[in-house]
Amino acid sequence: TNSDAGGLGRDLLLLLFWHLVKNVLVLCLNLLQLSVKYGPIFTIYLGSLRVVVLYGQEAVKEALIDQGDEFSGRGKLALADKLAKGTGIIFSNGERWKQLRRFALTTLRNFGMGKKSVEERIQEEACFLVERLRNTHERPFDPTIPLTHAVSNIICSIVFGDRFDYEDQKFLTLINLTEENNELFRSLLAQLYNFFPTLMDYIPGPHQLLIKNSEEFKRFVLERMKMHKESLDLSCPRDFIDAFLIKMEQNDQSEFNTENLVRSTLDLFLAGTGTTSTTLRHGLLILLKYPDIEEKVHEEIDHVIGRSRSPCMADRSQMPYTDAVIHEIQRFINLVPLNVPHAVTRDTHFRQYVIPKGTTIFPVLQSVLGDSREFPKPEQFNPGHFLDENGAFRKSDFFIPFSAGKRICVGEALARMELFLLLTTILQNFTLKSPIDSKDIDIAPLPSIAVNAPKPYQLCVLPR
Ligand code: HEM
Repeated sequence: TNSDAGGLGRDLLLLLFWHLVKNVLVLCLNLLQLSVKYGPIFTIYLGSLRVVVLYGQEAVKEALIDQGDEFSGRGKLALADKLAKGTGIIFSNGERWKQLRRFALTTLRNFGMGKKSVEERIQEEACFLVERLRNTHERPFDPTIPLTHAVSNIICSIVFGDRFDYEDQKFLTLINLTEENNELFRSLLAQLYNFFPTLMDYIPGPHQLLIKNSEEFKRFVLERMKMHKESLDLSCPRDFIDAFLIKMEQNDQSEFNTENLVRSTLDLFLAGTGTTSTTLRHGLLILLKYPDIEEKVHEEIDHVIGRSRSPCMADRSQMPYTDAVIHEIQRFINLVPLNVPHAVTRDTHFRQYVIPKGTTIFPVLQSVLGDSREFPKPEQFNPGHFLDENGAFRKSDFFIPFSAGKRICVGEALARMELFLLLTTILQNFTLKSPIDSKDIDIAPLPSIAVNAPKPYQLCVLPR
């Protein structure tokens, strides 16, 4: 019958799928082996997509820094094309990208955004997070949701002007949308969409939901934008949306239009929530595994900050051990192992090769963060990787979890503030306790070709 034929067709497609999934996985996880065989620059094919892989610190640095302009393009991803249509920051190119990126950077750096500094916004959220953690009453819990809500709320505060209550229905919907999109982006099926777009258009799957979610997110931002317009004071922008609206007023021919406002906002949520909250979640797991490291952070907090005031950014320079721990967390978890795909903006001479304009480039971050010349025993978690023999903080050129060069993460400064302030505020108030024996805790990231994450876990927090 027809339906049997349909079933058979589906089975065949599933089989084909599985085959593709396997191929993509094998390819990506074997980059190290490929680099040993072919050297630091080689080409792979992911479905129909041709990719030049840059492996190792020298090749990555030469491309992203020394030939920064040429390697500053964003690789074309079919899924991103469908969703962003070249708008916003992450997936745009050329003049549009330059303008929107510069605007986001200056706005996030505090210029022209009302009376409350970004630091204060983070401190405010940290207090709400602590209160929420206190309410777990020493019972075991999965920290994913509290951390996601806190980090997401910081972006809400910057973009929309204020945080939301953790119970607010609008806030929860917004977070569900971004989290679902993040999850889907991470999913292999979504990755496959990028590599086999024509095939995937015929198959229902997570990527269809991704498109629907983006539409819903858009409606939310448009509603906020309308509210902002009604109360806009040109001389006193309150947040990212106000600052963007003012740009729109100043020049109606520019890239500052509604489409780019909505997409830039979504970009900040997508790029800024999962990344930072996953880093914190993984960091807490690592501290559960190594209570002696947690103990040293406690000591430094007690010594420099004490118990009676909130941590602030000025404390960081006096806290080399804590700073080293946070760097080592970011190095070890290797959050975005392959980087976000780049592209060359014109025909590019690179070492002995000519790379044609538009070619997709993977400047592999993992190959730099895991370099054993710089970090002895890179597979081990060791804050000593960022300390000198006197216990002072040691900077490293190989520390590039945010990438490097012209595309370097727009949220780097914000993310580093969040990691420092949220982590120190948590540890100022609590001792972490694992419901299972620390020797049974597995801190290795779940391998992914997009964004790494720790295995799910539970912890207890005991008030200090
Ligand atoms: C621990 C936290 C974070 C990590 C590890 C991280 C990492 C990255 C990486 C690897 C890239 C790609 C860079 C490249 O293409 O070379 C990126 C891009 C980006 N990130 Fe982050 N990120 C983090 C947090 C944030 C936050 C908090 C925000 C925003 C508020 C943000 C916004 C962006 C944006 C807008 C881009 C695109 C930049 C462009 O295409 O020009 N990120 N990030």
